[in-house]
Amino acid sequence: MRPINLTVWAYCIRSTKNRKVVEKNMEFSMKFKRTHHCTALRKSDVGAEVALAGWVDSNRDHGGLIFIDLRDREGITQLVFDPTEAKAEHETASHLRSEFVILAKGRVTARTAETINPKLPTGEIEIRVSELQVLNRAKTPPFRVEDEVSVSEDLRLKYRYLDLRRRKMQENLRLRHNIVKTTRDYLDEKGFLEVETPYLLKSTPEGARDYIVPSRIYPGHCFALPQSPQMLKQILMVSGCDKYFQIARCFRDEDLRADRQPEFTQIDLEMSFVDIDDMLSIAEGMLENIFKAAKLPALATPLPRISYQEAMERFGCDKPDQRFGMELKDITDLASQAEFKVFAEVVKSGGFVKGLCVPQGSSFSRMEIDNLIAMSQKFGAQGMAWFKVTEQGLESNLTKYFKLELLEALKERLQGKPGDLLVFIADKPAITHAVLSRLRLHLGDKLNLIPKEENHLGWVVDFPLFKYDEANRCWDPEHHPFTAPYPEDISLLDSDPSRVRSLSFDLVLNGVEIASGSIRIHHSALQSKIFDLIGISDEEVKIKFGFLIEAFDYGAPPHGGMAIGLDRLVMLLAGEHTIRDVIAFPKTQRAQDLLSQAPSKMHQDQLQELSLKVMLD
Ligand code: AMO
Repeated sequence: MRPINLTVWAYCIRSTKNRKVVEKNMEFSMKFKRTHHCTALRKSDVGAEVALAGWVDSNRDHGGLIFIDLRDREGITQLVFDPTEAKAEHETASHLRSEFVILAKGRVTARTAETINPKLPTGEIEIRVSELQVLNRAKTPPFRVEDEVSVSEDLRLKYRYLDLRRRKMQENLRLRHNIVKTTRDYLDEKGFLEVETPYLLKSTPEGARDYIVPSRIYPGHCFALPQSPQMLKQILMVSGCDKYFQIARCFRDEDLRADRQPEFTQIDLEMSFVDIDDMLSIAEGMLENIFKAAKLPALATPLPRISYQEAMERFGCDKPDQRFGMELKDITDLASQAEFKVFAEVVKSGGFVKGLCVPQGSSFSRMEIDNLIAMSQKFGAQGMAWFKVTEQGLESNLTKYFKLELLEALKERLQGKPGDLLVFIADKPAITHAVLSRLRLHLGDKLNLIPKEENHLGWVVDFPLFKYDEANRCWDPEHHPFTAPYPEDISLLDSDPSRVRSLSFDLVLNGVEIASGSIRIHHSALQSKIFDLIGISDEEVKIKFGFLIEAFDYGAPPHGGMAIGLDRLVMLLAGEHTIRDVIAFPKTQRAQDLLSQAPSKMHQDQLQELSLKVMLD
């Protein structure tokens, strides 16, 4: 016979006893109803008979008395079990473990001065339990339900129901609810109608890969889940709806990041007979209310606007984090006078040389500077030039290529002070901007220059209508193909498409794009011209967008709209770093649902019904 491990044996006896005691007291229906949530009771309630329900957060046996912290969505209340008052309840309580579900009746009593817990809103009282009902047992959870969890995100997503019991996650769900409710109330007051648009649709024009749904009735045909309700909300304007909104679910099969999910939610708007100012002012009113609902300092409106061109010049990107300075400075004119070959060649070939002044960056070690150079190369630059600013002037292994006056001019242009570090990138304009903008964010974070507790919200306007796709040698829409050009730039469509500005805008919160919108084209002739310029054939237009173009011929009003990324907005207002923390059931970075284990293989019968064959080796 195999020897029995004594510890295991003792555990078996204990857990069998535990099961028996608990099961004896467990009931399938509630014998009485709860009267309060777990954060409702205060000192003024002392003496009241109450009933609370929830999950066991902790169980402490203080030699005689048992204290249980009972948790629900709202908070925590302490229950006390005294064997001299309720013997059977005390006995059952001694067997309760974390996450068991219980219902307890008792009297509210004041805590003694030394046992008051100032950290809890209910910290001045406790409930002396007279009746206890165990509603359900719980297995030992794979992680403790507490504010800070150190387990992997995958484990949190697999056991999302436990993760969502945590206070911060409950707060995030509530914030999201409050923001959506405020949005609905505000838009209703402004005359918007909430209209649902279908999920089973045709491919939409946002440019990501589609999630497709095969049709059973039409073998070989598919629906595409909407990347946004863009075309249908425009059709609603043609339908005379005038002001539409929807809290719309969108689906995009693209590479995921902290602020991207394959299915996400937009606050989607469209309005007729408006200009850009009308749209921005509606959005600003809505955001004022949202900030109030999120209990944040009042939002100062109108929000600042910056043109796309200025954003690129000053920050190197179209979604600048304006909570801190460290702006880019153009030194192309000075670089052309240096004997430094790298600079001279870039200038000759039409590139830019731009730089940043890093406050107190002279203290960086050689290794830290080498890391910055490696980072610049990873971001796409050939290299990074640098100078330390000292009392004597600029110091670097490159000074020999620059005359003294030129070094002084560089220092002045970047407003370098002794102790600072000047860094420069010379490359094609797009690369110079992209690399410096990423270096700026990296250094701002490293040097704690970003006031994380502040919010900076602002519009970026006057985007170009097109961007050039070098690989395919064609024009692509900067936003989407339905965006209207500036009327005065329409003549440039034939002569120089790169200079055509669009009536579009983005909204940027702390360096994250949270919304995008535009005035739309509402004439089929202009729409056809744009499709032509971006290289979409008439045949393709007919198949993909024919129904919208046709609608334009039946009296389309001038219209415009926008979409705010709800998940990103809630993430930033909740102070989270990933949108997964503000979505109840998100997908992983690899687009999987770990809770339900989706996607999963399709059954042969389903495939047959859909006339599909899986081609895997
Ligand atoms: P756009 O594609 O710019 O515009 O999307 C609008 C906003 O939606 C959010 N967003 C996302 N959020 C999470 N995960 C994603 N994968 C994701 N993709 C976009 C962003 C973005 O600013 N139909 C147009 C809007 C319009 O012109 O009315 C559109 O969808 O916050």
